[in-house]
Amino acid sequence: MATLHKVTSGNQQRGSVPLNIWPCAQTSAQWQRQGRYVKESFEHPGKMLPDLARRIIETYSAPGGLVVDPMCGIGTTMIEGAVLGRRCIGVDLEPRWASVAVANIDHILDDEQWARAEVRVGDARELPQVLGDLSGTVDLIATSPPYACEVGRVDKEAWARGDVLCDPASLNYSADRSNLGHLRQEQYREAMLAVYEACLTTLRPGGFLVTVTKNMHQGGRLVHLAGITSSLAQQAGFGYFQHNLALLGGLQDGVIKARPSFWQQSHARRAHACGIRRHLVVHEDVLVFLKPEECA
Ligand SMILES: C[S@@+](CC[C@H](N)C(=O)[O-])C[C@H]1O[C@@H](n2cnc3c(N)ncnc32)[C@H](O)[C@@H]1O
Repeated sequence: MATLHKVTSGNQQRGSVPLNIWPCAQTSAQWQRQGRYVKESFEHPGKMLPDLARRIIETYSAPGGLVVDPMCGIGTTMIEGAVLGRRCIGVDLEPRWASVAVANIDHILDDEQWARAEVRVGDARELPQVLGDLSGTVDLIATSPPYACEVGRVDKEAWARGDVLCDPASLNYSADRSNLGHLRQEQYREAMLAVYEACLTTLRPGGFLVTVTKNMHQGGRLVHLAGITSSLAQQAGFGYFQHNLALLGGLQDGVIKARPSFWQQSHARRAHACGIRRHLVVHEDVLVFLKPEECA
């Protein structure tokens, strides 16, 4: 059994037991990034909430620890981790997003933090090779993989003018078909199994893999991505450690104020208009896996 580091999150009192429902959207995503992240960051269609990245890093790693995000996008994990005193390496297949991550590192971090953050271009399925000598020493892998569904940058102004809502060039992170954002169903599962196997190799025994996913509807059916992810990670050799819920709505006076994406809201509204009882999803699944100590 791994020893959990004695790390408490910001407002958590010493000795209290943490809850596994995390309010991570008390302010909007845009507000959380405002003035901190470079404007090119907003072009990325699937970013992690900075408050959520911080919560994961504070809970599952210790200051000075090595944190890796093998699908780092614009570098949210690196930025928040370096601010929290962790050494961070981010990897993304796309040179475009890797360079936005570098721009964020240059923009936000002071000299000391900057020295702790690094971005590499590479394939998450080849993480041990991408990390070289550091493979096997990583304390925490924190990542949000593609969700096996179409994502694109929403342009409401273009839509109001009668253009398409999503620029086709922004779909699935890249036009490059080798980007895992294009994969669905069995192909997605095969590729993600390879990613989680690579994660197992790169973690130290007792290290954590934390994935953030969201269940989606496709063709009227729920795709239970949390379930798919947990079985893939266990198939790769991880132990299932904890399932936390990251609230995407703000808590105000005891009520959850939803902050749905444009997509989510319009899909749910359309479903309701047709009499389909679909709810707005106000959480992401934060799945925590442990590399067993005996796993060399
Ligand atoms: C959900 S996004 C992660 C966003 C990130 N958490 C952030 O806050 O910016 C998934 C990322 O995985 C990247 N990706 C897709 N296939 C990959 C692969 N084989 N290796 C590494 N990165 C990949 C995409 O380019 C995309 O940036």
